[in-house]
Amino acid sequence: MQQGKKVRTVLVGCGGMSRAWLNAVQELPEVEMVGLVDIYESAANQRASEYNLMNALIATNLETIFAQTEVDAVFNCTIPEAHYEITMSALKHGCHVLSEKPLANSLKEAQEMVAAAQQAGKIFSVIQNRRYDADIRRVTQFLRSDAIGPLTTINSDFYIGAHFGGFRDQMKHVLLLDMAIHTFDAARLLIGADPVSVYCKEWNPSGSWYAHDASAIAIFEMSNGAVYTYRGSWCAEGLPTSWECDWRFIGQQGSVTWDGHTQVRAQAVAETGGFTSQYQDLEIPAYTTGNIGGHAGLIHEFFAAIQNGTQPETQAADNIKSLAMVFGAIESSESGVPVPIQL
Ligand SMILES: NC(=O)c1ccc[n+]([C@@H]2O[C@H](COP(=O)([O-])OP(=O)(O)OC[C@H]3O[C@@H](n4cnc5c(N)ncnc54)[C@H](O)[C@@H]3O)[C@@H](O)[C@H]2O)c1
Repeated sequence: MQQGKKVRTVLVGCGGMSRAWLNAVQELPEVEMVGLVDIYESAANQRASEYNLMNALIATNLETIFAQTEVDAVFNCTIPEAHYEITMSALKHGCHVLSEKPLANSLKEAQEMVAAAQQAGKIFSVIQNRRYDADIRRVTQFLRSDAIGPLTTINSDFYIGAHFGGFRDQMKHVLLLDMAIHTFDAARLLIGADPVSVYCKEWNPSGSWYAHDASAIAIFEMSNGAVYTYRGSWCAEGLPTSWECDWRFIGQQGSVTWDGHTQVRAQAVAETGGFTSQYQDLEIPAYTTGNIGGHAGLIHEFFAAIQNGTQPETQAADNIKSLAMVFGAIESSESGVPVPIQL
């Protein structure tokens, strides 16, 4: 990318999430929004007037924008079913792509999209904004410091009674596809390992307001030998966990608990020999390096990668491993047996 030239960007999908993207772009002088697309023109027009983007082209179809102007980057903020079509079209027209999660609606589509990006030599990255939270960075840094020894067992609990209305109420595998992708991606970051196999059960609790399974329990074997368990529901009233989950990490020399927000505790063995060991509380240092800021942090990194010719942390070629955890869990839930996770 030529130094000093603005990155001409089109946002596709002007729904609920698009504001987070446009808010982030307001802080980035290197970005010029040249188009807004939505199958409902009124949605695109509304964002244009809210964000004072009166010079941006408005269209109900991305191809219409390509026919009218030069585009360097596409934001894919559409619903999951449309991610493949929009991303493939953008890559075909030589654009870098930043997409909302999940990367794709199937592993096959994801593999095709990753291959298309590699062939085009363009950046294709996915919004996994929860990685860009200072608390998860802090816990990850601490786990990497070896203060509790190598990890053996990791548990995460997600319990939120979410009354969305809209597409999620009718979506199959809604919890695994729409939410657990964040948790599984977080697990790969925190554990520092990739999935090897999974056994999963999904169900729809009685009284559920969802059309399909909104609860799941999954057990993953990870590439470092650790076992990671996920228990979750979007149909659980009362005592909610954080959206980041409630975590326990067990290492050979101690344990860490994290509520997904700022509450982190760590204890390690101080003295052994009795029925139970003596433990000492450990300090968890603050995280002071970059790579934080949710959507904004990730969008900033995407444009920095375009300028520097590097790859963002959440590039699709890596993120597909998190998606493979989702589809592995779905396959296991449907077949009733453990399945290997291969890419
Ligand atoms: N990262 C996060 O924390 C987070 C949170 C919520 C949603 N999301 C993701 O963001 C995406 C959008 O979710 P949302 O809540 O904004 O949904 P939404 O339904 O509010 O908005 C989606 C918009 O895309 C438009 N659209 C659909 N198909 C299109 C197409 N082919 N071409 C152009 N426009 C099209 C719709 O008309 C709608 O305006 C989803 O993939 C969702 O999983 C991410």
